Amino acid sequence: MSLKRVSIIGAGNVGAEIANQLVCRELANVLLIDKIGDYAKGKALDILTSASLKNSASYIVGGEDLNLIKDSDIVVITAGLPRKPGMSREELVDANGKIISDIVGNIKIYCPDAIIIMVTNPLDVMSYLAYKVSGFDSQKVIGMAGVLDTARFKAFIANELGVAATDVNAMVLGGHGNEMVPLVESATVSGVPLRQLADDETIEKLVERTRKGGAEVVSLLKTGSAYYAPAISAVEMLECIIKDRKSLLPASVLLNGQYGIDGIFLGVPVVLGSSGVEKIIEYDIGENELKMLQNSASVVKDTIQKLEEAISTAQ
Ligand code: NAI
Ligand code: 2OP
Repeated sequence: MSLKRVSIIGAGNVGAEIANQLVCRELANVLLIDKIGDYAKGKALDILTSASLKNSASYIVGGEDLNLIKDSDIVVITAGLPRKPGMSREELVDANGKIISDIVGNIKIYCPDAIIIMVTNPLDVMSYLAYKVSGFDSQKVIGMAGVLDTARFKAFIANELGVAATDVNAMVLGGHGNEMVPLVESATVSGVPLRQLADDETIEKLVERTRKGGAEVVSLLKTGSAYYAPAISAVEMLECIIKDRKSLLPASVLLNGQYGIDGIFLGVPVVLGSSGVEKIIEYDIGENELKMLQNSASVVKDTIQKLEEAISTAQ
């Protein structure tokens, strides 16, 4: 059977769960890489065994050496440190920046035609770094966060209103940080505006809970960060690319003036298909939410600047 070849670099919580979903749902053949090579091999063997119980013909193998990723169609990067309780995603920038530079340098050598899906935090900055280091077309470097943040927003709305999450239609744009922008004005439950279903105070609480959704999980887990929902969110994006589904969803991509933002990666609505980002959707989100989006962009820009200064000092 001809399945796409997806490499996942980082066999920790998020990477292993993405691999598990891809294999059990027969979406791809998977290569799982970790710097602790036997760890990736062990995870791959465990997942391979569960595939037989799921009647999946997908294959998975684990390893340590980045040259194994040769000829991958898609590379998902989940390598790096997760945050600890009380830590912001931005505080991971130096440590994860070094890891991502090294990995992306290898992707450029071994699979120059691959699509890169970035998961490592701080997400928008690591996506930008991957784009710069790889030199790939911006269509082929995509950050995962908006699908996850949107899923949290929908879940919290559904929970609050006592309705099915599948009936909630909403989107979260912006950077994957505390300044992300849950779009309130266009959110609906089966077409009924959220503004007419909840008062301002309740809506503000839902927005804040969404912005801090990742931190809420971190503070409960005490060690590590969320991974079930992040993994499913990445798989959602992978499925769009693998099946050329052309779904419209939020993802972190390079902006060239859309929403008045230029030269950074930020979460905006895009159409995802077999060639990666097939379209960036720019539409009127209203003056207030546009301002919030531009504020989120300025935080991402500052973190990129800090990273670039650290890189040039180290050189
Ligand atoms: P984890 O600690 O469970 O796994 C990370 C893995 O990366 C470890 O197994 C480690 O050995 C490996 N690794 C580190 N350096 C490596 C290298 N140079 N080559 C190969 N493997 C390497 O962490 P987890 O929970 O899987 O999270 C991974 C990253 O994803 C973190 O930065 C986290 O903040 C981020 N994340 C982002 C989300 C998003 O929405 N974008 C959601 C959830 C997590
Ligand atoms: C999250 O939002 C850690 O960024 C990750 O759960």
